[in-house]
Amino acid sequence: MQEKIQAAITAVGGYVPEYRLTNKILETMVDTNDEWIKTRTGVEERRILKGEGKATSDMGAPAVLDLCKKRGIDPAEIDCIICCTVTADMLFPATANLIAHKVGAVNCFGFDLGAACSGFLFGVTTGTAFIESGRYKKVVVVGADKMSAIVDYSDRTTCILFGDGAGAVLLEPGEPGFGVMDSILKSDGSGGKFLHQKAGGSLKPSSMETVAAKEHYIYQEGQAVFKFAVVGMADVAYELLQRNNLTGEDISWLVPHQANKRIIDATANRIGIPSQKVMLNIQKFGNTTSATIPLCLWEWENKLKKGDNLVFAAFGGGFTWGSTLVKWAYDPK
Ligand code: UT7
Repeated sequence: MQEKIQAAITAVGGYVPEYRLTNKILETMVDTNDEWIKTRTGVEERRILKGEGKATSDMGAPAVLDLCKKRGIDPAEIDCIICCTVTADMLFPATANLIAHKVGAVNCFGFDLGAACSGFLFGVTTGTAFIESGRYKKVVVVGADKMSAIVDYSDRTTCILFGDGAGAVLLEPGEPGFGVMDSILKSDGSGGKFLHQKAGGSLKPSSMETVAAKEHYIYQEGQAVFKFAVVGMADVAYELLQRNNLTGEDISWLVPHQANKRIIDATANRIGIPSQKVMLNIQKFGNTTSATIPLCLWEWENKLKKGDNLVFAAFGGGFTWGSTLVKWAYDPK
């Protein structure tokens, strides 16, 4: 009998734009203050992609090139690019195709995956299945979002949260016992009413009226989302550990979606992981939606050792949520 193919993350890439939108600058734009933002969310600044004609693919492409360079591969070797995003360059074609074109991934197919803040976990789970099937050898999962394109900078309840960025991982067949070990993914459409973009889809096509009513921006009922997120993200991470007979003590790093530091703390507490084992960069980048988890991996890559147990956890619009267990497959280069 043929042995099961194990998919592993074999390289990480990232990109954040240069411009820093600090809490101090936001104080001049809306009725808010640094203290409130820091204590209620943990965010101190976020990166914003500036420039006419710049879009999500302009962050996704450098993240993919970064990963190819580190792994020493030509983009032409990539079989598939999955772009997880809620801010596609255009409704179609898929941003994954535009990224493939920009990086010279001429032999791959690509598609976009929409699961909001949980997108990266849904993408990694999909890419893992492609590798495990034996059909593909190099699958890139890129989480990229230009949230500044859909943020209303006169709404103090959302504009303080979000930032722009992209992170990417390469999935390849790896050594048995290392790689993406397990995932639990969940979604519940009844939560859609609490976090969505009202217009621009087939339900409410763009019109002068939808623009005037600011219906192309993020609509979020923050408190309601918070209530579900704080329980959902913690519970699913706990369920994943239980299912794999692990406790917090077995885990080297919690890699959480960076939506609110209070949600991250609750998840870490629930699964018994101390703060020094939690990847946290919300203070620098805010909530970059699909990019938060790969951007953490990008920043921490040099600290990760072969055999480390990592737990990814996310909660977001949809609602969507999930958790993924990874046994890290390589030592720092
Ligand atoms: O990643 C996708 C999933 N999204 C999330 O996970 C986000 C979940 N939600 C949250 O993180 C939080 O609900 C927010 C950060 C959005 C809001 O924090 P909160 O602690 O839930 O605040 P709140 O909405 O209960 O508002 C508390 C007070 C209100 O004033 P009153 O009514 O008590 O006088 C707000 O008007 O804070 C006020 N407020 C602000 N004050 C200063 C709301 N936004 C701001 C602000 N600056 N930016």
